[in-house]
Amino acid sequence: MDRIQVRGGRRLNGEIRVSGAKNAALPLMVASLLTDEPLTLVNVPHLTDISQLAEILAGLGVEMTMSGNGHAEAELGRALTMQARKITSTVAPYELVRKMRASFLVAGPLIARCHKAKVSLPGGCAIGTRPVDLHLKGLEAMGARIELKDGYVYAEAPGGLHGAHFVFPFVSVGASENLMMAASLAKGTTTLENVAMEPEVTDLGHCLLAMGAKIEGLGTRTVRIEGVDRLKGTNYTVLPDRIETGTYLMAVAATGGELELIGARGDTIESVIPLLTSAGVHIAPTNRGLKVARNGAHYTGVEVTTEPYPGFPTDLQAQLMALMCTANGTSHITETIFENRFMHAPELMRMGADITIEHQTATVRGVEKLRGAPVMATDLRASVSLVIAGLAAEGETVINRVYHLDRGFERIEEKLSAVGADIRRVKG
Ligand code: UD1
Repeated sequence: MDRIQVRGGRRLNGEIRVSGAKNAALPLMVASLLTDEPLTLVNVPHLTDISQLAEILAGLGVEMTMSGNGHAEAELGRALTMQARKITSTVAPYELVRKMRASFLVAGPLIARCHKAKVSLPGGCAIGTRPVDLHLKGLEAMGARIELKDGYVYAEAPGGLHGAHFVFPFVSVGASENLMMAASLAKGTTTLENVAMEPEVTDLGHCLLAMGAKIEGLGTRTVRIEGVDRLKGTNYTVLPDRIETGTYLMAVAATGGELELIGARGDTIESVIPLLTSAGVHIAPTNRGLKVARNGAHYTGVEVTTEPYPGFPTDLQAQLMALMCTANGTSHITETIFENRFMHAPELMRMGADITIEHQTATVRGVEKLRGAPVMATDLRASVSLVIAGLAAEGETVINRVYHLDRGFERIEEKLSAVGADIRRVKG
């Protein structure tokens, strides 16, 4: 199993191109199931989660071609063309779905287009129970009959889905996406309330509009969708990854130095910029993205609670914790989205961090230095928090189980070593 070896203590200087957003690309790929015409996505990141989903889609009959190599110098990553001329299977099997929760998104489009689906209950990161009850309740409201059997969701809607009024009891990114896609091909109008406003959800909505869907209220908590008989193909560019952007902002904050993040969009991390600024990190827009710098003065602790967008993202909580391990003063970090998302804390403590966890809140008392240690990546975002900690630590950190990292961070060791980090992948 590959490991990442980091020798800490180097400042980061230069520029990094931000990749296309994984969490936007995944639902956009699933949208290819809604039409028999080609859907081309530009700026698709090269990640194992993307290949996993491609495998599931191929099993359903989607033909795919990839062009471009996604190298750093390429302006807009890879282009992926998908065409679901005919859906040849409506089954998404356990062996594939268990590896990634986002694969459950195929349920809505399959039922909408083929009036039936058999989709395994998902797996994914071990950061809580993460049920799919909201996805199912929404699809039921739209007329699907659902049965859970042998770890699978069996769904059918013999006459097709119909419009519905569905109020999400709490915000769910995936369920919002699933229902938006299903509603685009349902008969009549669907009103979804308390919809997720994450930029990736809105991005999916814009792609559906380009495919001919009739949607109002994108980017707000209430979205109205008038179903159409058929959708068409389109070309769509995936938005830049705000989680990758935030991760590199925090990496520079931790090591010191100055980076320009090419393609980064400040408007997608509006809760993150003032927080880091208040801690003493300089962030400013440039004509190519964002510049982040920390020279000289050290940064201070923060108080933060993760919330649905536009609040502070849970997907940056682990990275922020790694940064705050060496802040001046104490931070309180409260996680409200997932119940088991502090698994990075014990690993950071192995590096000398002073963290205590009570219920949903981590108290992080800043120490002067972290020390390198062998650590284990436990989930996608936790794994990158250990990279940040390793970059700032004294000595060598070896991160095991980096397959988590490869799910969500494109060429991370290449990008970081190009800006001065001493980081490499050890095969085996
Ligand atoms: C997406 C992101 C993930 C991010 C999360 C929250 C993708 C591919 N993944 O995950 O990186 O951390 O949003 O911003 O976009 N829940 C239920 N029942 C449901 C659905 C969700 O109880 O039917 C719960 C979950 O267990 C979790 C919370 O709702 O506690 C939020 O989950 P959700 O927003 O659905 O996250 P995902 O779409 O899985």
